Amino acid sequence: MNIEFLGKLHPFMVHFPIGIIPIIVFFHLITYYKKDLIKPEGYFYLWCLASISALLTIGFGWINLNYAGAPISPKEDLHESLGYFVAFLCVVNLVLWKLILQEKKLKNAYYISVATLVISLSYGGHLGAELTHGSLNPFDFFSTPNHKTHSTTPPTITQPSKITKPTVSFKENIEPILQEYCYDCHSDKKQKGRLRLDTYEFILAGGKNGKVVISKNAQKSELFGRIILPEDDEDVMPSKGDLLNNSQIELIKNWINQGAKNN
Ligand code: HEC
Repeated sequence: MNIEFLGKLHPFMVHFPIGIIPIIVFFHLITYYKKDLIKPEGYFYLWCLASISALLTIGFGWINLNYAGAPISPKEDLHESLGYFVAFLCVVNLVLWKLILQEKKLKNAYYISVATLVISLSYGGHLGAELTHGSLNPFDFFSTPNHKTHSTTPPTITQPSKITKPTVSFKENIEPILQEYCYDCHSDKKQKGRLRLDTYEFILAGGKNGKVVISKNAQKSELFGRIILPEDDEDVMPSKGDLLNNSQIELIKNWINQGAKNN
């Protein structure tokens, strides 16, 4: 079993907390009207289940981010933070309920914590769904033209390219580019973004946000994503000085898509 597989368990595991937490809320609501639907200890075990599944979910999510090359976007940052927060609140609720069972007067704190959890879970889950399925804004439905019948432009067919791209060499083609444009901030001198680009191993290790090169997938690789940004974008790399020219960008793209080898 490889580690990327564990990362793929994240979207599966996430259904457990998403299922269990509304059940807990639902039982609380029912109990409010019809006493003793389930025994108070029952909530303790439900919170155990919620906590364990939430902790597993963030564990798998973490693997997904750091090893399986999930896409990098600001939405993902927020999704990640909300995930940790949700797992944390599950454990908080578990502890609070245990204390309530021991006659501690903490019901208000508990209910506030549960409400915060439900909000964070809903929004975090929504962002997660957007990451896997694309935008889920219900209003997009109205703005996306669904009727293509009036279109006059013939569909463009992408010809599979017969010319195989020449193999890009890391040492001959890539290293000199990085040296010229990136070493000022990403080498033994400085490690901006906790990233070093002065050896192959450092490049693969990535920076403060994890991997920057996803082998065979330039589009998902932060190292490529940053160099193709427009000049006035605050995330563009290099953040100072000249940007790379098109043929240099093309080389980096092909190098990654050819497997980012140390060749
Ligand atoms: C003048 C300094 C400077 C130069 C030159 C520079 N960078 Fe950066 N880089 C930064 C800073 C500062 C950050 C951290 C802030 C950020 O993430 O935008 C960063 C972050 C990054 C990150 C994100 C790391 C992470 O894990 O968050 C990548 C990828 C990156 N740089 C790639 C490059 C590449 C590729 C080059 C050369 C083409 C380059 N940088 C040149 C300053 C620089």
